[in-house]
Amino acid sequence: MPAATILVVDDESLIRWTLSERLSQDGHTVVEAETAKAALARFDADIDLVLLDFKLPDSDGLQVLKTMKARDPDVPVILLTAFSSIETAVEAMKQGAYHYANKPFNLDELAMVVQKALETTRLRREVKALRASRSEPYAIDRIVGSSEPMVRLKALLQKVASSPASTVLLRGESGTGKDLAAKTIHFNSDRASRPFMNITCSALPDALLESELFGHERGAFTDARNQKIGLLESAEGGTVFLDEIGEMVPALQAKLLRFLEEKAFKRVGGAADVRVDVRVIAATNRDLEDAVKTGGFREDLYYRLNVMQITLPTLREHPGDIPLLLNHYIDTFNREFRKSVRGASPEAMALLKAYRWPGNIRELRNAVERAMLLAEADDLTPDLFPVTATRVSTAQTMELPPEGVNLDTLERELVVQALRRTAGNQTKAAALLGLNRDQIRYRIEKFNLEKTS
Ligand SMILES: Nc1ncnc2c1ncn2[C@@H]1O[C@H](COP(=O)(O)OP(=O)(O)OP(=O)(O)O)[C@@H](O)[C@H]1O
Ligand SMILES: [Mg+2]
Repeated sequence: MPAATILVVDDESLIRWTLSERLSQDGHTVVEAETAKAALARFDADIDLVLLDFKLPDSDGLQVLKTMKARDPDVPVILLTAFSSIETAVEAMKQGAYHYANKPFNLDELAMVVQKALETTRLRREVKALRASRSEPYAIDRIVGSSEPMVRLKALLQKVASSPASTVLLRGESGTGKDLAAKTIHFNSDRASRPFMNITCSALPDALLESELFGHERGAFTDARNQKIGLLESAEGGTVFLDEIGEMVPALQAKLLRFLEEKAFKRVGGAADVRVDVRVIAATNRDLEDAVKTGGFREDLYYRLNVMQITLPTLREHPGDIPLLLNHYIDTFNREFRKSVRGASPEAMALLKAYRWPGNIRELRNAVERAMLLAEADDLTPDLFPVTATRVSTAQTMELPPEGVNLDTLERELVVQALRRTAGNQTKAAALLGLNRDQIRYRIEKFNLEKTS
């Protein structure tokens, strides 16, 4: 047992001396205080435990106990009293005292209580530190961005994390940080010490997705030799992250909706309802409104998910954060690759700021990673960002031919190409052209491209 610093508070010097002698034998450092005032003045972060007299000249022990608990609830306080009264004992425990000892006390017994209290606190502190380090990668501050949309996003994530909201929908283009946001919500909520489970709806065939999510009973289908507990049950008390919810088939959507509304479901092949307490965070980069219109997504589920919806901004909407993100990733990869790159040259920075980043923060991260691997000088130069460079430069050097162009035809042609390249995904096509969804829809209608998309 490592040595601790113990604060002994009593107005009788003989008692202070006796306790001090005994506790020093166990290797502890003892600090003494005669009054409530002196005790509170000395109650600092270095104190591991307090022995507190119930009757003090300037205040009563309960009051001091209350103040100490408010300042640091983890420090155990053992109350000492000359007369035993059940009410005082009960009150002391209610105020968070670790133990209660009557004078005259058996010194060895008291020393043992002290050891036990110290051991408990040590464990509790360890668990806390462990929890903090586990959740730290997902502290809100780890989300890089000081622009207005990002500051708003962080505030919203924090709010949702500590709210009782049981369902959250994250929307945003690919690479905008939906995964990161889901984990941030979980690890900043009071569910942080419970499981965070993650499943990508498009990654599994429908039947498998259902049994992964809801579990199955023995014999539910040919291969079901044993009962299987699904993700929702394993995550009890925690969070389930359903990525790419837009790809879930309608039959499963119905089962999910029932769960969201009633907190109950049946395992595949099961008759009984299973109830669990989990928060469901769903994410999609699909246009759910479109999917509802075309029948691919249930309207009722859409409305249920819509209650708490968070849209992650595209990088185009907060280009001001590009230098910050760039430096963040330069730091990260300096450490990872043992390099000492300082920053980006002004030309490279101009290039990165001008680029439209259809793959958002993920694309930026990958571009910086590649550049850092190749970098040999102190600064990152434009040649290290080839894809970005060519795309920006062609877009910027598109020169008007001597015979002129038909702007309308050119525009139509570019929209058609963008839709073709993205297999008709309007959101992605819009990103390629630097447009938003409404703007591309307007053009699709204007050019009568409905069939093409
Ligand atoms: N604000 C941010 N600060 C720092 N890193 C970020 C930020 N947003 C996203 N990232 C990083 O960008 C990468 C992509 O993010 P993430 O995987 O969360 O995107 P996504 O929206 O889930 O994409 P997809 O739709 O393709 O699944 C990750 O490496 C993530 O850590
Ligand atoms: Mg993702």
